Amino acid sequence: MYSPATSDIWSKLQQLAEHTQSDQILDYFAKNPDRFNEMSLKVAGLFVDFSKNKITDEVLAELMALAAQSPLAEKIQQMLSGERINTSEDRPVLHTALRNRSNKPVLVDGVDVMPGINAALKHIQSFSDNIRSGNWLGYSGKPIRNIINIGIGGSDLGPNMVCRALLEFQHPKLKFYFVSNVDSSHIQKTLKNLNPEETLFIISSKTFSTQETQLNAHTSKKWFLESCHSPDQDISQHFVAVSTNIEAAIDFGIASENIFEFWDWVGGRYSLWSSIGLPIAMSIGFAGFVKLLEGAHEIDQHFATAPFSKNIPVILALIGIWHINFQGADTQAVIPYDQALHQFPAFLQQLDMESNGKSVDIAGRSLDYATGPIVWGQTGSNGQHAFFQLLHQGTRFVPIDFIACLNRDTETPEHNVALLTNMLAQAEAFMVGSNKDAQNHSYCPGNKPSNTLLIDDLTPKNIGALIALYEHKVFVQGVIWNINSFDQWGVQLGKKLAADMTATEITAHDPSTSGLLAMVRAKL
Ligand code: F6P
Repeated sequence: MYSPATSDIWSKLQQLAEHTQSDQILDYFAKNPDRFNEMSLKVAGLFVDFSKNKITDEVLAELMALAAQSPLAEKIQQMLSGERINTSEDRPVLHTALRNRSNKPVLVDGVDVMPGINAALKHIQSFSDNIRSGNWLGYSGKPIRNIINIGIGGSDLGPNMVCRALLEFQHPKLKFYFVSNVDSSHIQKTLKNLNPEETLFIISSKTFSTQETQLNAHTSKKWFLESCHSPDQDISQHFVAVSTNIEAAIDFGIASENIFEFWDWVGGRYSLWSSIGLPIAMSIGFAGFVKLLEGAHEIDQHFATAPFSKNIPVILALIGIWHINFQGADTQAVIPYDQALHQFPAFLQQLDMESNGKSVDIAGRSLDYATGPIVWGQTGSNGQHAFFQLLHQGTRFVPIDFIACLNRDTETPEHNVALLTNMLAQAEAFMVGSNKDAQNHSYCPGNKPSNTLLIDDLTPKNIGALIALYEHKVFVQGVIWNINSFDQWGVQLGKKLAADMTATEITAHDPSTSGLLAMVRAKL
């Protein structure tokens, strides 16, 4: 049975970590003036500089050997071809089929899934065109102006992040809201000033059973019926659903023709390419949504064909493994120097931590090595005024991914210069440090690694490529760690306990929970 940690390569990497412990990243550039060119790559509209990491050619070669020794090459083909690599749920993993712009057949149980995917895309296209053109009218004959996506996790984070990232492409007459939290203030504040005649609700839920989404959906339906003063008002012009659970959506009252389907071989955190991406198509137009798919497809082709040494998802994954398994990193910071990407770290948290936050291998055996990191971040330059102090002078080892767009709006060139030079200066400062002889409060040790990803410009195609890049990075790490990146059994326990808690005796719990529950029950 494959395990990364029992190989000679793993031992060699442990030795290399010791041997390079006192290395200075800056010295690597002095020894090899061509390091920047050798350790940067461009694919689609993404330029990735990974030269500011504490990796020598020898370390990189051993990391590549680790990938070669793992089942990565065959797992990539298995995923793309629809094999059931999500073994604990016995499902294929086919978010790549959703953006398979080649339209080559992808078989699941001998059936090509492409016709179904293309039919779902046509449904998205016709619906989003009707909303955007004003042809779709509400019950009183007014066009829709407000779109509220009700969903959580993968049914919120992906479409929400993409819509915010591509706000400049949004239809000028439409407003989009994303409601996810079960805290009623989220839905109440959203509904407060909206006109139900012009409002459309998208109930997005793969299972159509998630408690938060169900509560928000029913509260929205109640608001709508009360607002239009007609308890049996036809809701079909104002409520649509995105789900694999058609029956439950119909039970809620959604007209069958207003249910946008997708399939159980699409993981929630990998689903924005499916009908879950409906709000994206409504915001930026179907043609823009196709560009998003095309950008991701270009990365899929790169991932499937580029040799590992020139394969950006593989390289980023291996550098992450070097940091996590051989340099002791517990977290990974992602800092987009672009306010349009302010939700990208939150999206990556689910993508990475729900995929690789595992402690057993695919056979269910406990692991004795670290796996998925704690992913966190905030936009730059804001982070410089919040947590960069810890990153510069604290006691933690935190690798950083910097992300920025090269071509930005030209109205305010001085802002662009400030934004991008701040990012470059911080990445440099993390590497070179300062006042190293001071040994006092001004001392910045430096030698802190980072990757810098430069996007040509913030377009649907490049956003699609960026997201797919990180999806495949997470996949590569999961394969090398020999874990299942596509199930999420850990989130079921909390859901069950929450459901039980409303019904159980207060004393049925531990003393702390019982005490707290008594206080809560006294208020409810
Ligand atoms: O967090 C658990 C989870 O199942 C995620 O994987 C999923 O994206 C989210 O809840 C929402 O699930 P659904 O789309 O079925 O409502």
